[in-house]
Amino acid sequence: MQLLGEPTGNKIWTRKHLLGLEDLSPWEIRTILNEAERMLPNSRPGSPKLNDLAGRMVVNLFYEPSTRTRVSFAQAARRLGADVTDFSSSGSSVSKGESFIDTARNIEALGMDFAVVRHAVPGTPHLLSHHIQSGIVNAGDGAHEHPTQALLDILTIRQRLGRVEGLTVGLVGDIAHSRVARSNIHGLKKLGARVIVCGPPTLIPREVIEMGVEVNYSLDSILNELDVVNVLRIQFERQRGGLFPSIREYYRLFGVTAERMARAKPSLLLLAPGPINRGVELTPEVADGPNSAILDQVANGLGIRMAVLSLLAQAEANARLRNS
Ligand code: NCD
Repeated sequence: MQLLGEPTGNKIWTRKHLLGLEDLSPWEIRTILNEAERMLPNSRPGSPKLNDLAGRMVVNLFYEPSTRTRVSFAQAARRLGADVTDFSSSGSSVSKGESFIDTARNIEALGMDFAVVRHAVPGTPHLLSHHIQSGIVNAGDGAHEHPTQALLDILTIRQRLGRVEGLTVGLVGDIAHSRVARSNIHGLKKLGARVIVCGPPTLIPREVIEMGVEVNYSLDSILNELDVVNVLRIQFERQRGGLFPSIREYYRLFGVTAERMARAKPSLLLLAPGPINRGVELTPEVADGPNSAILDQVANGLGIRMAVLSLLAQAEANARLRNS
């Protein structure tokens, strides 16, 4: 019998959780990208809904602020026919002292099948996977990983430039505090891209250098080599201060401006995970300019999150089939 979820070749998807891109194989990453492309036409209101998650409950368990990721996961789950519940720690029994695991166990008792988890502490989704039965998607754990963001970045690159392999991608900004940078590095390297991280030395930790990327502290010196620039936000909320002299100086050295774009390849693709700080990491004219794919990224996030939820559900169905 053919098992469900066989998008390419004769391999099947077996993962029950998506915790990061570090553990994924290139085949698994391509499978998610291909599934996302297939699902994008069904991602918009008015298009036919799919029923991959009919009768299932997806819960957003968010312990950190979010706009895009949260709305996108909720919408993706609805487009697959799931019931969706949004939990945020503020206003919940967390303020009465309830632990994270107890909270999740209680929500599971209400029927949760999939938990989409965002938490300030690295490893929280991994920890939770040992304590509950539901499938878990990491929607950002501290400065560790944010796999669906990197997948939607990579999908946008593949759509706009036709490939990922052989491209030079610059990750510019606050690498130290960026889970988006870490997941991008894992994903891009597995698909054969050249990755350069660039920012003030105080924002590029040794641990990232050890991930096998090139490091450069001068945006101007790498600008004309880049096919893609992914502009990362200065994450003031994670910094304890004093990591660079001033915002004005950061902007002068690393701000992506129209003048810098004019010195780059005309086809340079500009990405940013958002939220963007206009006038700090990039100027409004660049953010809204012809090289920018920032809103395409957001739209692609729906396809990626539909694909991930659907594949996790298929893995579960396959496991049941095998055990029956
Ligand atoms: C990112 C995040 O939360 O890590 N945003 C997002 O998910 N779209 C990056 C950021 O906050 O700068």
